[in-house]
Amino acid sequence: MGNILSVYTNDVDRINELFRYFLVVAAIIFLLVVGYTFYYVFKYQSKKQLELPNQEEGSDRIEIILATIATVITAVFVYLTITSINTIQKIPEHPKPFLEITGHQWWWEAKYPQSGVITANQIYIPTGKKILLKLTSADVVHDWWVYKLGRKIDMIPGRYNYMYMYADKPGEYLGACSEFCGVEHARMRIRVIALKPKDFKVWQKHQLQPVVSKPKDALFEKGKELFEEKTCTNCHAINGTPHKEDIGPNLTHFGSRKRFLSDMLVNNKTNLTAWITNPQNVKSGAKMPNFILSKSEIKALVTYLHNLK
Ligand code: CUA
Repeated sequence: MGNILSVYTNDVDRINELFRYFLVVAAIIFLLVVGYTFYYVFKYQSKKQLELPNQEEGSDRIEIILATIATVITAVFVYLTITSINTIQKIPEHPKPFLEITGHQWWWEAKYPQSGVITANQIYIPTGKKILLKLTSADVVHDWWVYKLGRKIDMIPGRYNYMYMYADKPGEYLGACSEFCGVEHARMRIRVIALKPKDFKVWQKHQLQPVVSKPKDALFEKGKELFEEKTCTNCHAINGTPHKEDIGPNLTHFGSRKRFLSDMLVNNKTNLTAWITNPQNVKSGAKMPNFILSKSEIKALVTYLHNLK
């Protein structure tokens, strides 16, 4: 079953085109309603003060015509919308998602079930492939939307939603949480990085490598110890260590991420120091507590995390 939108093979183009049709029709109706309102206001204006203007009853004929037009327009859009939904949401009965994303207040957890990679916030995908996403939330309702890569969808605690994401060109695609989810909702940004399939494989292989365990330098080693001692491991996992908690973002290869805190800040030593020194000063409401660490402890932790490449 085809319709005028069938020429768009890309979901996003199809959604945008449907939106454009809707916008044009809605704009025409709006202008007609406003135009006629003004026209009749002036036409039936009383010419003299204190004189009742011409009174006219409605017209059955015009009312029937208008009701028919409205019904036809609604029916056409319902048809286009339903056929578009059916085309875009062709989810298999037993879906095998490529990527599982969980919304948290206020960051994104990303798991690649087929390869075992787990990461956070900076999300990688290969180009030229329709990617099946499985989405849920760990706390409140969030909403996933990277507008250049696909539709938008709610992430609901205790429930799995599915959608496709597609990037035809390599690049960085920005998005944002689109459902109010608390004080830091506005800074719950998304960055999806699309790589050519062979570059994606390289990234994936690198992610699967355990974090460098050979002693780097004293500060790195001290940071590694502190990370366990100060109970960072109660919330943060680092693959290749025994800690698997996922209350906070997985920090494996954290140093290779360009930004952190859901794309809020550039990932450098200055910002990381500010964050660990007093998380609430940087992102108020975030679940990360202030551990009241000494300057030298912070320096060691920053060195450790910065070198998890
Ligand atoms: Cu998450 Cu808004």
